[in-house]
Amino acid sequence: MDLFDAIHTRRTTKEFRPDPVPRAQLERILEAARWAPNHRLTEPWRFRVVGPEALERLKAAAGGGAQKLLRAPTLVVASYVPSPLPPHAREDEHATAAAIYAPLLAATAEGVASYWRTINTFETPEGAAAVDLPAGERVLGLLHFGFAVGDLPPTPARRAVAEFVTFLP
Ligand SMILES: Cc1cc2nc3c(=O)[nH]c(=O)nc-3n(C[C@H](O)[C@H](O)[C@H](O)COP(=O)(O)O)c2cc1C
Repeated sequence: MDLFDAIHTRRTTKEFRPDPVPRAQLERILEAARWAPNHRLTEPWRFRVVGPEALERLKAAAGGGAQKLLRAPTLVVASYVPSPLPPHAREDEHATAAAIYAPLLAATAEGVASYWRTINTFETPEGAAAVDLPAGERVLGLLHFGFAVGDLPPTPARRAVAEFVTFLP
């Protein structure tokens, strides 16, 4: 798939078939993160693929939100290790956002649907322990992967390019 096709056709998907993304395919998808730009080559991103035991711990930690964890068959916790200096930590966060987008695009190219979800469960001691999250590591999202049920959702309306791009004289 052409890169622009992947950019245009990636859609947040919330209805997945029950079969997980095969491990080799998931590894190929997550490998795309390696090539994300990052200042001083800190490579701050970390991805934890949630296995069955971790999922049980996560469900217990999520309490009333446990049901939402069952939406996708393959869940990946995306986090980063911030550098000690705040400006560098900010760059690490930005680099990790780029390192998340790359696998979302790679998944699209592989015919795998995805969903980047914000979740605060990892801010609790139980949630952090559920996925072996070390102190100091910050979670940017819970990535959902799987095969979509039916068609992908329609593309939400987006601003025209001229509304967010300015060519300065
Ligand atoms: C940082 C980030 C966090 C997000 N968190 C959520 C979320 O918690 N719940 C949700 O429904 N969608 C979440 N999304 C997905 C957006 O809602 C989605 O990207 C947006 O609706 C545009 O749709 P598209 O991804 O199909 O282009 C998140 C996206 C990003 C980039």
